[in-house]
Amino acid sequence: MTGQTQRNIYLDKNFDRFVAQLSEWLAIPSISTLSENREDVRRAAEWVEKRLLEIGFAEPRIVPTAGHPLVYAEWHIDDRQPTLLLYGHYDVQPVDPLAEWLSPPFEPTVRDGNIYCRGACDDKGQVMIVLAALEAWVKTEGTLPVNVKILLEGEEEAGGDSIAEYVRKNPNLLKADAVLICDTHMVSPEQPSLVTGLRGILYTEITVTGAKTDLHSGSYGGVAPNPLHAICVLISRLKGEDGVIAIPELAANIPIPSATEKQFWLRDSLHIEAALHAEMGVEHCVGEKNYPALERIGLRPTLEVHGIKGGFTGEGAKTVIPAQATAKVSMRLPANLDPHTVFGWLEKAVSTDMPNGYRVRITNLHAGKGVAINPDNPFIRAAADALAAEYGVQPIFMREGGSIPIAALFAEVLRIPLVLMGFGLPDDTVHAPNEKFSLSQFRKGMKTVADYLARIRNSGI
Ligand code: BES
Ligand code: ZN
Repeated sequence: MTGQTQRNIYLDKNFDRFVAQLSEWLAIPSISTLSENREDVRRAAEWVEKRLLEIGFAEPRIVPTAGHPLVYAEWHIDDRQPTLLLYGHYDVQPVDPLAEWLSPPFEPTVRDGNIYCRGACDDKGQVMIVLAALEAWVKTEGTLPVNVKILLEGEEEAGGDSIAEYVRKNPNLLKADAVLICDTHMVSPEQPSLVTGLRGILYTEITVTGAKTDLHSGSYGGVAPNPLHAICVLISRLKGEDGVIAIPELAANIPIPSATEKQFWLRDSLHIEAALHAEMGVEHCVGEKNYPALERIGLRPTLEVHGIKGGFTGEGAKTVIPAQATAKVSMRLPANLDPHTVFGWLEKAVSTDMPNGYRVRITNLHAGKGVAINPDNPFIRAAADALAAEYGVQPIFMREGGSIPIAALFAEVLRIPLVLMGFGLPDDTVHAPNEKFSLSQFRKGMKTVADYLARIRNSGI
C-alpha cells in the first residue's frame, strides 16, 4: 500500500471527527471587525493552538499583537527538505442580515452534503483541511515530509495590519521556500483551479455633513443641504451607470492583459459568466461593457458602496433632513497599484466631485496590495499535479477578484512563491447569509494537501 493510500484511509476513517472538530471551531463567533467579539476571536485562536498541540507540534504559541493574536507553530524535520509556510485565518465576517440565515450563523448545521456556518469556507474549513492533512502524515508516518511553519491570523477580514507588522519584523523566523494559502475558490467541483492573481483593496469611510442639526423637511426642504442626497450624487459621479470609475489617474495605470489571458476571458469556454448569473440570481452582469466579465473580476478596478448610514430608516415615516451621512466605499485594484497611492487619487476625486455646500471627510480604514503570480515554479506545478491526481482533471490557472492582504507582503518580504490552492466553491456565499462548505470538497481538500506535501518533498531547493 502506498503512503498516499494509507493517508487517504486515515483521512476517511477520521472524517466524521474532523467535521465534529470543525463544528466546534465554527461555533466560536470570531468576528474580527466587531469589538464586542474580541474575546471570541481569542478563544478561536486558543482552540486552534490546542489542535496544533494535539497534532504533535511541539510549541504552538499565541502571538499577541496590537490587534487580534496570531497563532504560530513550526516543525523542523530535516535541513535537506524544503520549508513550507502555511497561512490561513481564523477570523470571520459579520453575519448580518441575520434574518436571511436558514440556520443560526454560529450553529454549524449539515444539510445536503454541506456544512453551513459563518466561516465554514472562509477560512476555518480550509484551515482544517491543512491541519487534517498534517495530522494524517504524523499519525501514519510519525513525522512530516517537509519542514512546516504555520501562521494563522485573526484579522484578515479586518485588513490584516497586525500580521503585516509581524511579517515585516520577522523575515528570518518566517523564512521558507514557498507559502501555501488555502483561502480561495475552484471553478466548480469538477474543475479544480489554482489562483494566479488577487486584487488589492482600499476600504474607506466617507462622512458628509450639511446643517448643524437635523431639520424639518417642510420648513427647510428646498433650501437645506441633504448629506444623504449629496453622498448619492458623489458616488454616482465617482462611478457612472456604465461602471466607469471617474478617477483620471486610475485609467492611466490599469495593466493591459496578455493576449492569451484576454482570449481566455473572451472565450470563457468554461461558461463562468453564465455560472455567475446563476450564483447571483440575475439575468446579466452590470459594469464596464467593453471588458469581458472575467476581466472585470480578475483585473479591472472596482468602486463599490457597501452601506450608507444616516437619516431615518425606522418604522413608518419621519420627515427629517439629516445633518450627516456616512458611506462605506471600497475599491478593488489590480496588483500593480499601491492602494495608498490610489487613496490619494480618490481623496482628490472626492473633493472635486462633492456637491457644493457640504463638509466631507474621507478616511482609509484599511488597504492591502494585490498579487500577480507566475505559476512557472516547482511549488505550483506540484499543486497542479496534486489537484489533477485527486480530481482526475488538470486544474486551470485563473485570477480571482477577492483579496488576501498579507499575500503581497509574503511575496515582497519573503521573496518566495505563493501557492493559492483553495477548495471553496463559487456558490459557498462567503461573507453572505448561509455560508457553506461542501463536505466533499473538505474531504478531497485534505487528500490533495496531504499528497501535495509528498510531492514537494525533495523538490524546489
Ligand atoms: N477568502 C477571501 C479572499 C477571496 C475571496 C479570494 C474570493 C478569492 C475569492 C478572504 O478571506 C477575504 O474575504 N478577504 C477580504 C479582505 C478584505 C476584508 C481586506 C476581501 O477580499 O474582502
Ligand atoms: Zn473572507
